[in-house]
Amino acid sequence: MDVPVIADVLNLSVAEVHGVVTFYHDFRRGPGGRVMVRVCRAEACQAVGAEALAEHATRRLGVGFGGTTADAAVTLEETFCLGNCALGPSVQVDERVHGRVSPARLDALLAEAGR
Ligand code: FES
Repeated sequence: MDVPVIADVLNLSVAEVHGVVTFYHDFRRGPGGRVMVRVCRAEACQAVGAEALAEHATRRLGVGFGGTTADAAVTLEETFCLGNCALGPSVQVDERVHGRVSPARLDALLAEAGR
């Protein structure tokens, strides 16, 4: 993402654009993976195993949160509530939210997504 160019076009300072780009998770400074996987780590999901699921996801994909696999297949992100609290742990794969996701179910979702 070319922050100086965007700042120039929008007549904003580089600091203003940088602040927005780094604050909002949906802005990325480089290309993301073909599939976006978001693991909810908010309280309701934490209470039903989200941290173990998050650890499984990072180990399984070999990237930390905010990272993209070396083959550019998957970008893994953490999020803090997907509005699916009663069915946690919750995971979003691209546009679809999944509930009661176990590590095995996450593996199946990743396999469905080609990973
Ligand atoms: S806390 Fe995870 S979906 Fe709301």
